Formats: sequence, C-alpha cells, structure tokens
Amino acid sequence: MQFKIYRYDPDRDAKPRMQDYEVQLEPSDAMLLDALSRIKAMDDSLSLRRSCREGVCGSDAMNINGKNGLACITRLSELKEPVELRPLPGLPVIRDLVVDMSQFFKQYHSIKPYLINNAPPPEKERLQTPAERDELDGLYECILCACCSTACPSFWWNPDKFVGPAGLLQAYRFLADSRDQATSERLDNLEDPYRLFRCHSIMNCVDVCPKGLNPTQAIGRIKNLLVRRAV
Ligand code: SF4
Ligand code: SF4
Ligand code: FES
Repeated sequence: MQFKIYRYDPDRDAKPRMQDYEVQLEPSDAMLLDALSRIKAMDDSLSLRRSCREGVCGSDAMNINGKNGLACITRLSELKEPVELRPLPGLPVIRDLVVDMSQFFKQYHSIKPYLINNAPPPEKERLQTPAERDELDGLYECILCACCSTACPSFWWNPDKFVGPAGLLQAYRFLADSRDQATSERLDNLEDPYRLFRCHSIMNCVDVCPKGLNPTQAIGRIKNLLVRRAV
C-alpha cells in the first residue's frame, strides 16, 4: 500500500516535506495504525504518538486523507491511495505527526473540567436519578483526541481566545451534571465574545469526532442557558 507522510524536524529541516512509503501488509493488518507500525519498523526516524490501539487514549489523532481521525480505528480498506497523513492542523508541529497540544489542554483546563460541589460529602456518594445520569450521555465519552478542535476554523484563528469544541463539550458536561453547583460561575466564565460565541455552527467538529459526539449541540445548549438566565 502506498503512503505519503508529512515529515518535519524543526531542529534540522528548513521546511516540511512529504515522504513516500510503500508497505507490504499482512492479512492481519486491518487498521491504519497497523500500517504505521510497519512503516515505523522500516524507518524508525518517523515520529508519531499511539498507545491503546483501540480508540480509547486519543493519542494517534492525525489528518488522514484530509480529514482528522484516529489511526487505530481507521480501516485501511476504506482509504484511497496514496494515503496522505499529516499532523493535526493548526497546532505547532514538534516533529512529523506529533503536535504540541499545550494550547488545546490550556483551553480544556480553563473550563474547570471537574465537579464543583462544596456541600459536605455524603457518607457514600453523591447520588443521581437515572434521568439525571442520562443527561451525561454523549458528553462524558470524550477522549480528548483534539480531532474536533483542530478541524474548527474558529479555533485555528483564535486558539488562545476560543475554548474550542472539545473544551466546550466538557463545559456543558459539568453544566449538565445535577451534582455540580457552579453553574453561574461556569456561565460567567464563558460569557465573552470569543470563549463561546466564536462558534459559528459550521459543524466540522461533529463531522470528525471519532466517538460520534456532538460538540455543536452542546455549544447550542450552553448558549440557551446563557439566554435563559438573561431574561
Ligand atoms: S460548530 Fe463551532 S465548534 Fe464546531 S467546528 Fe464549527 S465553529 Fe468550531
Ligand atoms: S469531542 Fe470527539 S473529537 Fe473532540 S476531543 Fe472529544 S472525542 Fe475527540
Ligand atoms: S492509539 Fe489510542 S486512540 Fe488510537
């Protein structure tokens, strides 16, 4: 199978280049990450991140034939050749397919991604009804792969000001949690021309999320909460 892979070592290369690879696959090689492991065995100078190989850790996110996704759950049989692999767009490249995720995680941490509840802890746990628990479905499953935020034009232009779809999905995850008591503080933190309202509902984020999540819907719900508290 034929591949074209983005290569760039900022310490040594004047500019990035695309390198061709031809790989002999085995019948057991079903996913793109299997092919990348074979390429890495041929050329260990190629840098990429991976860990779980089953769509859980989020570390092997990359741009695959123009669309962000996870190499480990992308079927080779569905890819047009030569398969073009590039780092996630819009983030600084550390080397080859490895990007600097600092800005992405800075925005994620800015929404306080943890339960805030200052009431004395109950003896066992803070309970929810099944209906309250259902509110978290479609929100808690995010693996922070950054496929969505790095496909979002608003995040490309303002990564320091716009929280981005991944962070906003998690902001809503805690706003929707019946056990959380920081609703006002969380909304204050997002009521700003950039942090939330830079989303223009283009829905690139929904299109690329490998977990089938819908950040645009969560963003819409945060906007509704802000409108409702204003009237
Ligand atoms: S819907 Fe909003 S968050 Fe999602 S890609 Fe578009 S602008 Fe970005
Ligand atoms: S919302 Fe989806 S694409 Fe975005 S970081 Fe979470 S799992 Fe990845
Ligand atoms: S290697 Fe963990 S998500 Fe792909």
